[in-house]
Amino acid sequence: MNQREKNISHTIDVHTPSVARMYDWLLGGIENYASDREACQELLEIAPSTQVLARNNRAFLQRVVRVLVEDYGIRQFLDHGSGLPTQDNVHQIAQRSDPGCRVVYVDNDPIVLAHGRTTLEENDRTAILNEDMRNTAAIFDSEPVRRLIDPNEPMAALFVSVLHCLRDTDDEMDPAAVIRRVAERLPAGSYMVICQLVSDDPAVRDGVTHLMEVATGGTWGRVREQREVRAYFGDMRVLEPGLVDVLDWRPDTPVLPPEQRAVDWVEWGGVAQL
Ligand SMILES: C[S@@+](CC[C@H](N)C(=O)[O-])C[C@H]1O[C@@H](n2cnc3c(N)ncnc32)[C@H](O)[C@@H]1O
Repeated sequence: MNQREKNISHTIDVHTPSVARMYDWLLGGIENYASDREACQELLEIAPSTQVLARNNRAFLQRVVRVLVEDYGIRQFLDHGSGLPTQDNVHQIAQRSDPGCRVVYVDNDPIVLAHGRTTLEENDRTAILNEDMRNTAAIFDSEPVRRLIDPNEPMAALFVSVLHCLRDTDDEMDPAAVIRRVAERLPAGSYMVICQLVSDDPAVRDGVTHLMEVATGGTWGRVREQREVRAYFGDMRVLEPGLVDVLDWRPDTPVLPPEQRAVDWVEWGGVAQL
């Protein structure tokens, strides 16, 4: 552990892998620890194309934000499970198209707050909230959301690569209930962006779910099937091209080489208008 890691380890549990830090490693970042890297290596044994998948997911997030600003006129974003800052975060993409865009990031991992304060609160139109994405009322009634999000103007609620972190429960804390609650709070004309890990292969679904369950001390959710993600959209109007492997959501390169496609599992979802 180097000095920087030692300083942070006073406040962060570096021995239990964290989803945010594992994702950071998969994307080639440096804000991760031995426990995260070991868990990623185990993950790669079950699903070798996971790094490709992570990169495809991040590229989808960036495309979606740009398209929502430039083609759909959206100027405010609520990013649930924003992750550690990396290059081209949501506000940087959005504000490149229109500097007036406002973004509130929400994540419950303390390391995201520790590292995110300077990068994600870069100007007076961005803020980061350390909150569980299931706490819809606390999020919508928070100071940053009341300050930055106009409740009378359409916005985009992002749930990109986060719903698989939530368990299936019957207490209004599962993905379907969270999406329903957020949809009720969104102004008319708003957009919902949802994708999560899915696999057609039961061995990948069960293997990864078990691995992440053990690695995170029982705080992870589940790799799901496409039909389950489709159900989260309810009767919202899904935009073209529909619900797809996010690599195929309005790609900005015409021909994709085969090595860019994850094969074991994919991030699957799309964008809908309420
Ligand atoms: C795989 S990363 C996705 C990051 C980003 N959305 C993206 O697609 O690039 C998942 C993030 O969700 C966060 N997360 C997991 N469960 C959460 C919860 N219950 N509330 C808020 N954030 C959560 C993790 O801390 C992590 O940063």
